[in-house]
Amino acid sequence: MADAADSLKNIPFLDLKTSHQELWPEIAPFYEQAFMNAAFIGGEHVNAFEKEFAAFCNANHCATVNSGTDALHLAFRALGIGAGDEVITTPHTFIATTEAISLAGATPVFTDINPKTYTIDPNLAEKAVTPRTKAIVPVHLYGQCADMDALMALAKRHNLVLVEDAAQAHGATFHGRKAGTMGHAAAFSFYPGKNLGACGEAGAVVSDDEQVIQRVRQLRDHGQAQKYYHDVEGVNARMDALQAIVLRAKLKRLGTWNDARARAAKYYDERLGECGQVTIPYRDPDNFHIYHLYVVLVENRDSVQEYLTRHGVGTGLHYPLPLHLQKAYARMGHQKGDFPVTEHVAERLLSLPMFPGITREQQDYVCDRLIEAVDQQMK
Ligand SMILES: Cc1ncc(COP(=O)(O)O)c(C=O)c1O
Repeated sequence: MADAADSLKNIPFLDLKTSHQELWPEIAPFYEQAFMNAAFIGGEHVNAFEKEFAAFCNANHCATVNSGTDALHLAFRALGIGAGDEVITTPHTFIATTEAISLAGATPVFTDINPKTYTIDPNLAEKAVTPRTKAIVPVHLYGQCADMDALMALAKRHNLVLVEDAAQAHGATFHGRKAGTMGHAAAFSFYPGKNLGACGEAGAVVSDDEQVIQRVRQLRDHGQAQKYYHDVEGVNARMDALQAIVLRAKLKRLGTWNDARARAAKYYDERLGECGQVTIPYRDPDNFHIYHLYVVLVENRDSVQEYLTRHGVGTGLHYPLPLHLQKAYARMGHQKGDFPVTEHVAERLLSLPMFPGITREQQDYVCDRLIEAVDQQMK
């Protein structure tokens, strides 16, 4: 009894260790083989994973790279996005989205988000289109796809390239279509904490356009199509075999894990939906939301988070300071008030513990403490 009670007093934000213990016997022989054969970069596991991940996404092609950031960066370059081009995205994302736009030589342009889904608002995005706009990058934030019907129509109307930032959306669907198959290309991250996570840095570009994938393959390998013959300057962004071994083992379980997250989210919804002081995440009923993160909004967020920390509940903030207010983008000249929906959400958001193996008891403990914390704010 004491053990069960103690385990409730320390609920991690994310638990990777339990699934890793289960996976180790399956992975260990392949690790040993790769080490003994000194086969580290590219090779059979990388090639096999590329095929398996493309099939999982219902896409024709996949090129792995060494991070989600480089997946975006090289997808942009492969699609001809560069100097002089404007790329529209949202300030409510991880900075990698806009870093990659700048890395490709283009200029990020911000548009506010939809107040329900927290993903890019297509109507506002259309207002931001100028003659220099080349592309639009929706971010499938927290595991739910942006409004891709409206964005695909917008891209068509203005002849724009559409690149999905699917770093948080492996297996999510929008009205029956898989994340990563609706734009000209999509970027995935396999950072360890993602729903499909490697044991280090890794990422991938997915596309139905074989030429785009060929260009990514060349760019990730110093621009060479043949060893030491460089058609263009590229980068060193190849994925290694050890990541592919882990990713292949985890990919087999990803569907089950995503379903477990969706069930856990439903339970949070039931427990917290009645509490007037907590805004639960909106889910479009026609979407499969993979709940990479379960994010609620609360008033006095910092003191609520502090209360949860004191009671052993791990939480996160994704993301506390919108990109347009970051020092890194001072050059854009934005100020507070420019993107009010993003700012409203950023001040109140709080990510609760979410991982496939989270138990009902752990979720009850999180909900009880959260309700206590918001009740205290009312007194
Ligand atoms: C929305 C988003 N875009 C891009 C990235 C970049 O991925 P990586 O950390 O693998 O470079 C991340 C991951 O943190 C992300 O969450």
